[in-house]
Amino acid sequence: MKDVFRSIEENRNFMKSPFGKFNYMSDQQKGANQPPLFKAPGGGEIIRLTRDFEGVVVQNCFSALVNERISIRSFSNEPMTLEQISFLLWSTQGVKSVSQDGYRTMRTVPSAGARHPFEVYIAAINIRGLSASLYHYLPNAHEMELWQREERLKDKVTAALSGQRWASEAGAVFIYSVIPYRGEWRYGTASHKVMLIDAGHAAQNLYLSAHAVGCGACAVGHYDQNALDSLLGLDGRDEFCIYAVPVGVV
Ligand SMILES: Cc1cc2nc3c(=O)[nH]c(=O)nc-3n(C[C@H](O)[C@H](O)[C@H](O)COP(=O)(O)O)c2cc1C
Repeated sequence: MKDVFRSIEENRNFMKSPFGKFNYMSDQQKGANQPPLFKAPGGGEIIRLTRDFEGVVVQNCFSALVNERISIRSFSNEPMTLEQISFLLWSTQGVKSVSQDGYRTMRTVPSAGARHPFEVYIAAINIRGLSASLYHYLPNAHEMELWQREERLKDKVTAALSGQRWASEAGAVFIYSVIPYRGEWRYGTASHKVMLIDAGHAAQNLYLSAHAVGCGACAVGHYDQNALDSLLGLDGRDEFCIYAVPVGVV
């Protein structure tokens, strides 16, 4: 019990402002090279995504989107379209520009220090024209690459999301991983709290955008860390999953 209380105390402290807590220099201050802005493609088949979102948005009224947003855990059997997926990927992590010096990306969501520490993967369960496989978003080119073909994808997604079977009835499960060194390079021990806050912004855009294209979404924080990391082949240390959001047609 003592350990649990100590852990709660530590976790509460983690939620407080981390800046100025330790007197040290970050790797950036020490002059270390910046880590890459993007994870290198793995060489899988490339799926080009449209940036023409004209026809895909069915609800354009911002106040309606905010008022009507709820978590949806029940989806129709209708497949999602690649155009919907394209808009959702753009909304949650799309790159609008890269600074000339290669220091930062400007995206559709904010990120502390513009570090954008996430990668996005999609478990494509029911998307028209796509095989049931895992895909990796390449935000700079606005493309997806085939990450891994997967037998029994639905069962594996259900298990990785701690048995939440409704989640694998979605059209696609958006899975966010973090590459922590992207934030640590600049902010060291102050980076971890703000990276988690960044994840909330990314997912909120996904929630609102899903509603805008006639779909529903539900955030998932209750997942099995090892199962989800190993589904995507992540090492669990330098890159690991932090969030998942199943999305489907309602
Ligand atoms: C960080 C986070 C984690 C969540 N994890 C789960 C989850 O694992 N399973 C689930 O069914 N809902 C999950 N939810 C959805 C919440 O239960 C939901 O947002 C809450 O009940 C409020 O309902 P609303 O989103 O419809 O307003 C999560 C939401 C957030 C923001």
